[in-house]
Amino acid sequence: MRTLRLSKHLPHLLLAAGLLGSASAAGAPGPAPRRAATKPGPPAVRHTFALGKDQFLLDGKPLQMISGELHYPRIPREAWRARLKMAKAMGLNTIGTYVFWNVHEPQPGQYDFTGNNDVAAFVKMAQEEGLWVILRPSPYVCAEWEFGGYPYWLQTVPGLKVRSQEPQYVAAYTRYLQAVGKQLAPLQVGKGGPVLMVQVENEYGSYGADKEYLALNKKLFEQAGFDGLLYTCDPVKDVAAGHLPGLLPAVNGTDKPSQIRQLVNANHGGQGPYYVAEWYPAWFDWWGAPHHTVPAARYTPGLDSVLRAGMSINMYMFHGGTTRGFMNGANFKGDTSHYEPQVSSYDYDAPLDEAGNATAKFRAFRDVIAKYRPKGQPLPPVPAAKPSAVLPPMQLTQSAALLGRLPAPVASQKPLTFENLKQAYGFVLYRTKVAGGGSKMLKIKDLRDYAVVMVNGQRVGTLDRRERQDSLLVALPAGQVQLDILVENLGRVNFGEYLLQNTKGITKTVSLGGQELTGWQQYGLPFDRAPAVAGGGAGALAATSGPALRTAIFAVATPTDTYLDMRPWGKGVVWVNGHNLGRYWAIGPQQTLYVPAEWLRKGTNTITVLELLKPQQTKLTTLDHPILSELRALGAL
Ligand code: GLA
Repeated sequence: MRTLRLSKHLPHLLLAAGLLGSASAAGAPGPAPRRAATKPGPPAVRHTFALGKDQFLLDGKPLQMISGELHYPRIPREAWRARLKMAKAMGLNTIGTYVFWNVHEPQPGQYDFTGNNDVAAFVKMAQEEGLWVILRPSPYVCAEWEFGGYPYWLQTVPGLKVRSQEPQYVAAYTRYLQAVGKQLAPLQVGKGGPVLMVQVENEYGSYGADKEYLALNKKLFEQAGFDGLLYTCDPVKDVAAGHLPGLLPAVNGTDKPSQIRQLVNANHGGQGPYYVAEWYPAWFDWWGAPHHTVPAARYTPGLDSVLRAGMSINMYMFHGGTTRGFMNGANFKGDTSHYEPQVSSYDYDAPLDEAGNATAKFRAFRDVIAKYRPKGQPLPPVPAAKPSAVLPPMQLTQSAALLGRLPAPVASQKPLTFENLKQAYGFVLYRTKVAGGGSKMLKIKDLRDYAVVMVNGQRVGTLDRRERQDSLLVALPAGQVQLDILVENLGRVNFGEYLLQNTKGITKTVSLGGQELTGWQQYGLPFDRAPAVAGGGAGALAATSGPALRTAIFAVATPTDTYLDMRPWGKGVVWVNGHNLGRYWAIGPQQTLYVPAEWLRKGTNTITVLELLKPQQTKLTTLDHPILSELRALGAL
C-alpha cells in the first residue's frame, strides 16, 4: 500500500530533512581476519554473541556494530573484495546482506550457490577482510528486488500464500531455508564464522501481525541450523505488529536514540540492546521519476547521535551497486493502478557509488565513525577513486530483427502468462492472425507491463502499464494480418499487500474492435543469456521497424570502468561479454549503464543490444561518468 510505503518513507524523509536525530559509545574492530580460503589456516576461532541489557556482547564484551548493507548479486564477484575493503576504509566493522531466494532457486528444487550467487564465499571473504556479518535470509527481502526476492514460480502453485502459514508456502520455504542453512549456518560466530546474527522475515509488521507465523519462521530457521541470535526488523510504526516476543526487535528508519530505546524496551521486556537495522542515507530510483539524492550533511548528525548513544546501526545502503539483468522490483503508488518499476542502477546515492568509489557522503560518514573508533585504531586509508575510461565509439552494424529469430511457440486459445509458460523474466511475444481492413481499437486487459505492438512486423505503437495505457487504435491493411504484441516483464512488485497480484504478461484478454481475440501463439524470450546475433549487416533491418538485436566486437587495451551512453537509444537491454548489464530507457532518470572493468577483457570484447524502439540506431558511445538524473519526455522518443 503506497500509504504504508509513504509512511515508511516518512521516517526516511524526516531523517533526510534532519528532523530526527540525538548521543554514542566506542565501536570495536571486526573479526580476526580469516585466512583466504586458498591456504589452510589455524582452526577458526569460535565466539559467543549475546544480548546485553544495553549492548551486544561479543565474548562477553560490548560490541557496537557499525554496519553497512551491500548485496553480493549486485556486485561483480571479481569486485567483492574491493567493496569489502572500502567498507573497512569507511570505518565499518560489520556488513549486512540479504539472501535472495530467486537467484538461489530459479526453478523449484534447482539450487544455485555458485559464481555471483555464492553467498557463502561472500560471507567468508567478509571475514577475511576483518568484517562481521549480519545475515538476512528473511526469505522475503523487499530490497527493490524482483518479487521481493521470491522466485516467480511460487505464483504457479494454486492457493499458495506467501508470508503466511499456508502449507504449500511453508513447504517451499522450508526446503529453501534448509538449502540456505547448509551454505550459511556453519558460518555463524558460534562455529567460527563471522555471522553475528540472522534476520527472520523483513518488516513483517508492515504486512501482517500473525505471531504464530513469526514463531513458525523462528522454528524453521532453527531447524535449518541457525542456532545463533535471531532478530526481526520493522519501521517505527510497525514494530509492535512485526516483532516476535523473545527475539530482539530491531527498528528501521530512525536515528533518534530516545525513540529507538522506547520502541525496543516496549517490545523486548524493557531492555535492549538497540539496533537500527536499516538507516537510509538516501533512496532508490524508479523509471520516469527524479533521481533521489540527499546531501550527507542531513545525515551526519543522526549517525553521530546513534553512535554516541552506543547503539548499533546498519546503513541501507552502504553500497547499492547495480540490479543487473531483469532483477529489479517495483512498487505500487497507492493502489495497483500506479505501477513504479525500479531502474537498473542501485546507486542509491549511497556512500560508496555504483562503481565502488568513495563519495563526499563516504568521507562525511567516515569522519563521524572515526570519533567512535577504539583508541589507537586509526581507520584504513581511503583507496583513491578508480579510473574510468571513454572507449572509442562503436558501430553495432551486425543486426537481426527480433521477429526473425523466434523459438518454437506455445499455442493456446487465450493468452498465457509468463507463469503459465514457466518463464520468470524477460519478454514473451504474443502472436495471432486477424482480419484486416480499417482502423480498430486494440485493448489489452491487464498488460504487465510494457508492450510493443506490431502489424505484419512493423511497429504501430507501444503500451506502458506505468502510464495506465491499455488501448491503441490500430490501422489494419486489407487481408489477413499478423498481430504481434511483445510484452516485457518490467519487474514484479516487491512491497505491499499485493505481492500475489504479480503474474506477468497478458494476464487477462485482448480485444480488437470490441471482439475478444483467441488463438494465440506465445514465443518465450527470457534472454537468460546474451542472444547470438547471427546474420546480416545493416541491410538485415532495412525493412523492419520492429525490435532489433545488434552486436559488435570492440577492442580494449586496458580494462577500465566505463559507462555506456544510452541517450541516443530508445529502450532495451545490453550485454557485455555475456553479462546482462540491465535495462535502459530514454525516459530516464538513468541514462547510462555501468560497465565494470572486471567484466571487460584486454583485447576483444562483445557487446549486444536488444533495442525495442529505435532499431536503426547503430552508434554506441561511452562516458567516464554516470548519468543517473536525466528525465526525458515520452514524446521525445
Ligand atoms: C525497506 C526494506 C528494504 C528496502 C528499503 C528501501 O526498509 O526493508 O528491503 O526495500 O525499504 O530501499
